Amino acid sequence: MREWLDDALFYEIYPQSFKDTNGDGIGDLKGIAEKLDYIKELGCNAIWINPCFDSPFVDAGYDVRDYYQVAPRYGTNEDLKHVFEEAHRRQMHVLLDLVPGHTSTECEWFKQSALPEKNRYTDRYIWTDKVWNAPQGIGNITGWLRGGYDREGACALNFFTAQTALNYGFYNKDEGCDWEQDMNDPGPLSTREEIKNIMRFWLSMGADGFRVDMAASLVKNDPESKGTIALWQDIRAFLDREYPEASLVSEWGDPARSLTAGFNMDFLLHFGPSHYPDLFRTDHPFFRKDGQGDLTDFWRIYNENYRKASKLHSLICIPSGNHDMIRMARFLDPDEMKIAFAFLLSMPGVPFIYYGDELGMRYVDVPHSVEGGYERTGSRSPMQWDKTVNAGFSTAAPDRLYIRQDTENMSVINAESEKQDPDSIYSEVARLIALRKEHEALHNWSTFRLISDSYPLIYERSGCTEDLIVAINPTAENRSFEGISAGEVIYSTFGKTLKKEEGIITLPPQSAFYLRKE
Ligand code: GLC
Ligand code: CA
Repeated sequence: MREWLDDALFYEIYPQSFKDTNGDGIGDLKGIAEKLDYIKELGCNAIWINPCFDSPFVDAGYDVRDYYQVAPRYGTNEDLKHVFEEAHRRQMHVLLDLVPGHTSTECEWFKQSALPEKNRYTDRYIWTDKVWNAPQGIGNITGWLRGGYDREGACALNFFTAQTALNYGFYNKDEGCDWEQDMNDPGPLSTREEIKNIMRFWLSMGADGFRVDMAASLVKNDPESKGTIALWQDIRAFLDREYPEASLVSEWGDPARSLTAGFNMDFLLHFGPSHYPDLFRTDHPFFRKDGQGDLTDFWRIYNENYRKASKLHSLICIPSGNHDMIRMARFLDPDEMKIAFAFLLSMPGVPFIYYGDELGMRYVDVPHSVEGGYERTGSRSPMQWDKTVNAGFSTAAPDRLYIRQDTENMSVINAESEKQDPDSIYSEVARLIALRKEHEALHNWSTFRLISDSYPLIYERSGCTEDLIVAINPTAENRSFEGISAGEVIYSTFGKTLKKEEGIITLPPQSAFYLRKE
């Protein structure tokens, strides 16, 4: 079951900004199909596409209007099917983005639900009994939509104002309240069945699974996520019956919970308890050469989660970034990024590379927000392919592009130039991916043991056929460690050399090594 996850290595595509094939300034599905070879050549064998469904794009497509229809600006359902087929032909897999927590207020379900007359969508969303009744402090409800519709009541929100919360019921239901529904009431159950139908629809067309948006948000007033966990376990059981190969990765950021819920993988994220930002994105990221980082909290939580994930036979995903985070290149310089990738690509679990991070694409200062991006907009600029007009992203006039490009730098930072330069971030990432594939000890399921949690960072990866040591010194000074028997060097960044003397290894400034264990 889901054997394809054993060697999966993901590339995240923000479809708006990847490749435009019809000159309208917005990326599209034909563009994704066209660029699968680029992704494969880098070494990734799986993609996650951000929502590509019909939407008014108040939140870049995370406000779905019709779950069964590709947004016309990206193409047609046939075009998406073609992406699945082209990916499969290359032994690649495709995850779509499922947004189960909320819809756009323009979704037909919501329009029906907002009518005063009772109909089959009346209970699809969470409505109070009076428009004046908008209670504060109910976990997972971010606000209320009040007025504007003839139905009496206020409707719960899950994120922005245009994203009304679907009704999966309340875990701690207030018994005295007659508008809060139980998880097993007909309304919440029919919402859940609709989500299963959406999954069936795309899986039967060829999708390989879903990245699940705000996976922890479904059941309300559920402080320990017990209701939401039970709900996902039910969905996993349905998948195991009907689509056993389908994989789910959660945007949850708390593997202890999400993996219990039946997700095959969970992301470490910029929010939640994981301390993920300490790696690449605090004031003092660990991988910056000033050596001021501190991963104590990160490792404490990671080790605990790693044990739980192994027991549940599921995986932790460390992303280079995503469409919600400020790009790594804003915090780390190119050499620091190469060392960060030597870490990311030697950890267990499933690595995720955000499009353009393999080039060191920069966070772009944009004059204003685009489609609900706000500060996230600068991380969503068009992919830089080559030195032609608009860096090969689109033939549209530059002022018609979805988001402004990194015009100052795109003649240097682009896929074509970086592929030709053996010292580029791209070349380093491609080398590291090739090593990960070649060495069984670096595979997704091979075991992990932390040996030194600071500078230098040292851990052991073990498979059935080999044991490797990874030793990383991001700092600008020599760093030594006593007590490991390191053998042959199979990888070193910048061709640096490791000193070994009487059981002490010394790593030169800014270096990373993969070593055989002796
Ligand atoms: C997730 C998405 C983010 C979106 C939000 C609401 O966090 O990654 O982009 O805005 O959910 O759906
Ligand atoms: Ca287009």
